[in-house]
Amino acid sequence: MEIYIVDDYQQLSMKAANFVASQVILKKNTVLGLATGSTPEGMYSRLVQMNHEGIVDFSKVITFNLDEYLGLASEHPQSYHFYMYNHFLAHINIAPQNTHILPGITGDIKKTCREYEQKIREAGGIDLQILGIGINGHIGFNEPGSFLKVQTHLMGLTKETIVANSRFFPTLADVPRQALTMGMGAILQAKRILLLANGKSKARAIQEMVNGRVTTAVPASFLQLHRNLTLVLDKEAASLLP
Ligand code: GLP
Repeated sequence: MEIYIVDDYQQLSMKAANFVASQVILKKNTVLGLATGSTPEGMYSRLVQMNHEGIVDFSKVITFNLDEYLGLASEHPQSYHFYMYNHFLAHINIAPQNTHILPGITGDIKKTCREYEQKIREAGGIDLQILGIGINGHIGFNEPGSFLKVQTHLMGLTKETIVANSRFFPTLADVPRQALTMGMGAILQAKRILLLANGKSKARAIQEMVNGRVTTAVPASFLQLHRNLTLVLDKEAASLLP
């Protein structure tokens, strides 16, 4: 595990964007696993800039998003579809058919999950998976519990996550209670993983993830088993590390 600790959010975003750009420059047809949340916003914005400056070309890149809220249509401003297009995909030269996001509205959840797994496999798996981390140690929407799932699946969100994510919704009652998420399998099988965290609220999850036991109570702790994991943290998120 490689850990970079930077002074602030601006530096975190720059470093993360350089990391992703160097991957795409080296391998034009990179398969990227994308994360949402407030943490990677600065990174996406810098990548858009780098694309416009001609530094990085996304024309051959394939993307798979980690997760989506169940029940939110892609036009819903809080859907991860909306987020991804708004912050990144609509502003770069990516081919729309190369972008994949789990649907928030689907008639057959099991089939949708199966097909998503199949598409990831057909693309050859993920080259670089970008991750944030929940305050409770979740990755994607793989929430803490007595077990974790390997495949893409439907997940009931924990109270902690619903409360944490309510900042994006008018009221707590508006936060979806369920989501579709890539499972631990596709994430851990990614060739490289880049995890970003900033702010004091993430310090405990980062400390447990880096130094704690590998446990389903902290899904991110399984990343300790990955051979090519890079963390970019600001000082506050790293504040409980030894
Ligand atoms: C959300 C997403 C995660 C994200 C996490 C942290 O629930 N499902 O993929 O990493 O929460 O979000 P933020 O970066 O806004 O703190």
